[in-house]
Amino acid sequence: MNYDKKSEKIIEELRVRDDFLVLAIESSCDETAVAITQGRKVLSSVIASQIEIHRRFGGVVPEIASRNHIIAIDNIVKETLAAAKVGLADIDVIAATYGPGLLGALLVGVAYAKSLAFTLGKPLIAVDHIKGHIAANYIAAPELRPPYLCLLTSGGHTAILKVNSFTDIEELGSTQDDAVGEAFDKVARVLGLPYPGGPEIEKLAKSGSLTYALPRAYKGGGGYRFSFSGLKTAVINLVQNCKARGEEIRRADLAASFQSEVTDLLTEKAVAAAEEHKLTTIALAGGVGANGALRELLSQRGAQKGIDILLPPKSLCTDNAAMIGVAAYEEIKAFAKPAKLDLDADPALS
Ligand code: KG4
Ligand code: ZN
Repeated sequence: MNYDKKSEKIIEELRVRDDFLVLAIESSCDETAVAITQGRKVLSSVIASQIEIHRRFGGVVPEIASRNHIIAIDNIVKETLAAAKVGLADIDVIAATYGPGLLGALLVGVAYAKSLAFTLGKPLIAVDHIKGHIAANYIAAPELRPPYLCLLTSGGHTAILKVNSFTDIEELGSTQDDAVGEAFDKVARVLGLPYPGGPEIEKLAKSGSLTYALPRAYKGGGGYRFSFSGLKTAVINLVQNCKARGEEIRRADLAASFQSEVTDLLTEKAVAAAEEHKLTTIALAGGVGANGALRELLSQRGAQKGIDILLPPKSLCTDNAAMIGVAAYEEIKAFAKPAKLDLDADPALS
């Protein structure tokens, strides 16, 4: 039996089980991450971050990210297996993020996963990175069942999603320009903060007060659309005008004012969408979901409206492979077919 046929047969057998082991690989940006998961449980999860390498360039350099994934991946797989106390022979399914993300970075994970799957004779599940972020909520709350609302706030995507099932996800609104993480990173850069900017803004904002009047982030003409570019440009102009006039910039106040505008808008829209669609749960997803101010405001506003707020641990909001393993499990349960060996990375997967 050829590889594709054998994979399909194995997946059919696994579909009715919950105890199979997934080895998942995530390499869409600057984290080389591997995890071993079983259902919605995480047996081990290892993340090799390249943040220190890219920091000196002020952001991720794609070619450098790919090269470092190549260097790291084999050892991270070994480390992850050892941490779960299992061997490759115990693994039932290989999973890998195939998009969206940086092409060269994705290719490393996809190529590694394909060769591993082929040589072990195990099925391969191709995972959408965004669905991975959503699946992080199943690790934190294994009892979670659709329908629910997901506030997706990653470095590349910002959207309000109605999750009807793992394979039926409706976009109620998304950003018209910058993603929220991107806005955090760009504002941080103009404030002279290192990459990645989100956590740095959060730290700085703690000692700031809301004394800068920034334009409200564009509301997108109602509905659940976002725009962060006007707000980002306002901060950049303000900093440049201050510099030109030789005035001091109160960086902590500016960070706090920016963060407050962003979190206010995200939480207001998410809660309004949940109410309109009569959804009683909002699940937070993506890297900006690690932001304490956002988590706090969302919890507060959710409680006021009787909406349950799910906040995955911060380590599961930013990129990791545990969420990819659980997403693969959910895909299998939702009758996904295994990927074929001609699987390609899809940097613009939507
Ligand atoms: O989801 P993610 O890890 O990667 C993508 O799929 O894009 O998100 C990364 C983004 C970066 O823009 C980073 O600055 C932001 O998440 N981020 C934060 C925080 N931690 C990470 N933004 C605000 N506050 C944080 N604590
Ligand atoms: Zn991500």
